[in-house]
Amino acid sequence: TGMITIDPGFKNTGSCESAITFLNGEKGMLRYRGYSIEDLAEKADFLEVAYLLIFGELPTKEQLKTFHNDIKAESHVDEEMKKILDGFPKSAHPMGVLSSLTSALIAFNPSSVNVSSEKDMYHAIVRIMAKFPVLVAWTMRKKKGLPLDYGDDNLGYVENLHKMMFKRPNKDYKTNKIAIDALDKLLILHADHEQNCSTSTVRITGSSHAGLFVSLSAGISALWGPLHGGANQAVLEMLEAIDEDDGDTQKYMAKAKDKDDPFRLMGFGHRVYKNFDPRAKILKKSADEVLSDLGLEDPILDVAKGLEKVALEDPYFVDRKLYPNVDFYSGIIYRALGIPTEMFTVMFAMGRLPGWIAHWREMRLRNEPIGRPRQVYIGKTSRPFVPLKKRK
Ligand code: CMC
Repeated sequence: TGMITIDPGFKNTGSCESAITFLNGEKGMLRYRGYSIEDLAEKADFLEVAYLLIFGELPTKEQLKTFHNDIKAESHVDEEMKKILDGFPKSAHPMGVLSSLTSALIAFNPSSVNVSSEKDMYHAIVRIMAKFPVLVAWTMRKKKGLPLDYGDDNLGYVENLHKMMFKRPNKDYKTNKIAIDALDKLLILHADHEQNCSTSTVRITGSSHAGLFVSLSAGISALWGPLHGGANQAVLEMLEAIDEDDGDTQKYMAKAKDKDDPFRLMGFGHRVYKNFDPRAKILKKSADEVLSDLGLEDPILDVAKGLEKVALEDPYFVDRKLYPNVDFYSGIIYRALGIPTEMFTVMFAMGRLPGWIAHWREMRLRNEPIGRPRQVYIGKTSRPFVPLKKRK
């Protein structure tokens, strides 16, 4: 079998060639298809960025319109799916609900199972781009005990998501430009991040030619963990705990540095960024703006800023090049928008959807082989079998 090099966590192993996202962790630089994240967050909307990531170019007006119309035509989710949602207890974590529903979708859309032509891929892609926001909104409405709602084809993609999430029963939906712009920016910033844990999961699941929807469902499960997307929920819970602890940041810093304590400062550190995460920089500014535009004050934002300052000056964090990551400030904005803490990682999944799709499509179009890492066996060598009655 030759020499096998072990690289736990694939810290130094490239799994593919990719033309989707470039990031330079030393410089804190992130680009989608060559466009800087700062430009995209400021000047594009989420649907344009989704198109860019998936198909490689910014859409023309005509292309964007067609893409959006194709999505609208697929926005109905089978009524039977509501029964599956009903079956979950209200206490269920929304990430488990979302991954289950995403996987269940395939039962109602069997023609999206095994797609290999570009045309069939396109159809599966617009289907999931259409139905995923419905599922996201439903998981939140279930949490909040609100009746399920459908979208409105006259609204933009993100505005429609906002409507489906927030429309109150028996009341007209009132659009909210500040909230929609903030949501748009958050989704763009989360839209792709090359070969992270969930994206690698989507690629490797799809590499067996399992379909797009189930590959995405696997990605959602991978994203759930607190070391990955689940960090945004963990950050907010940590900031709340610090606030309730009279703002005692030093206590949490000491815990984070204590090697006998498994606690980590949530929202800090990154596998690739050894400098500021450019997304965190944009979100810190955005958190300030959104709170002020909405006329809100949140003591948690002050806790976050205080904690960031202390950590950035602490030798432990300086030596290890630990900076705030994308999850550090996002929760403060979600909270200002009225999104419950347990839904934060679902919002991350909504943003990451086009990135996952783009990687799945790239992997299939490049005809990549099935993902199948090797190992070095360190268990027992050959042993004689002992029958059950003779075992001690
Ligand atoms: N608090 C305290 N110590 C830390 C932290 C932290 N947040 N992050 C890393 N370290 C220490 C770690 O203990 C290790 O120290 P030592 O060299 O003394 O053993 C050193 O820094 C390197 O850490 P690592 O665990 O080898 O690095 P990694 O690349 O395997 O892990 C990470 C990256 C993001 C999982 C990790 O930094 C972490 O657990 N951060 C907290 C969770 C978090 O915020 N996750 C969100 C990541 S960004 C977006 C996303 O994926 O959702």
